[in-house]
Amino acid sequence: MDTFKRKEAHQPHRPGKLGLFFNSFPEKWKWCFPVYASRQLHLKEYEICSSKVPAAFDGLRIAYASDVHYGALLGEARVTDLAQRLNALKADVIILGGDYGEDAKHSFLFLEKLPPLEAKLAVCGVVGNHDRAEGTAEELSAAMEKRGITPLVNSSLMLKINGKTLCICATDDVSHGNPKFSEVKAQAEDADFVIYVPHAPDALQAAKEEGAGVFYDLALCGHTHGGQVSLFGFAPYTASLYGNRYGNMFLSGHKEEDGAHVIISNGVGTTWMPLRLGAKAQYHLITLRRK
Ligand SMILES: [Fe+2]
Repeated sequence: MDTFKRKEAHQPHRPGKLGLFFNSFPEKWKWCFPVYASRQLHLKEYEICSSKVPAAFDGLRIAYASDVHYGALLGEARVTDLAQRLNALKADVIILGGDYGEDAKHSFLFLEKLPPLEAKLAVCGVVGNHDRAEGTAEELSAAMEKRGITPLVNSSLMLKINGKTLCICATDDVSHGNPKFSEVKAQAEDADFVIYVPHAPDALQAAKEEGAGVFYDLALCGHTHGGQVSLFGFAPYTASLYGNRYGNMFLSGHKEEDGAHVIISNGVGTTWMPLRLGAKAQYHLITLRRK
């Protein structure tokens, strides 16, 4: 089993003068490719095939978007565009992966500006380190509820079809909140299929350390931004509490780990600098398939 040493959490980055300078570049300036790429959003689809998917949930469509970072580097027009793209997927469930704003103030503004999201069964969301660094989980949860988004903060949402239960659950942010892994595990215990959606993949390691283990069938995470700048799949900097080796193991894409599927999104926005290289901005459509 891999061992990782946990570091102290840092305050999240905010854009500096250089980041704001890059952000002043016009959209059409393709010559500065990393700035141009940071503004191009791509749909990345996954099919998750598992014998544990109940027949009642075979074909369930989940739209997922994380790390919008509304603020100086990403404005209202791109929030509207994201909502239109998510609604166009006509998903059964929409999950927002946290880091709505570059800071807590902008997370509230994001929720105000966000056009209504439409899904057949549920729209839910978690809190990320940028939302949470200023201790606003309860207020943010209330603001989400006001917009028809079920907050998942050490809590779960149960979807029932034909007597079968699908659980979507999340802990509080692992670096700036109070994650309660055992409580969430207990909530998910009786479900037929469990989707765990913590903001950061560091929560997967922390859940093991806290004794909750791998209590989920599928994990959906953001936070990493795919490194924002990644060369041949390796990011020189990752925002992982467990260091760059763990950060690069859980940087981007789909993998199977300890019998569970794990998907890590590159996210929608950027932090610190509006630059992307080797880590396209992404939102997702994930379809569950019964094997
Ligand atoms: Fe983020």
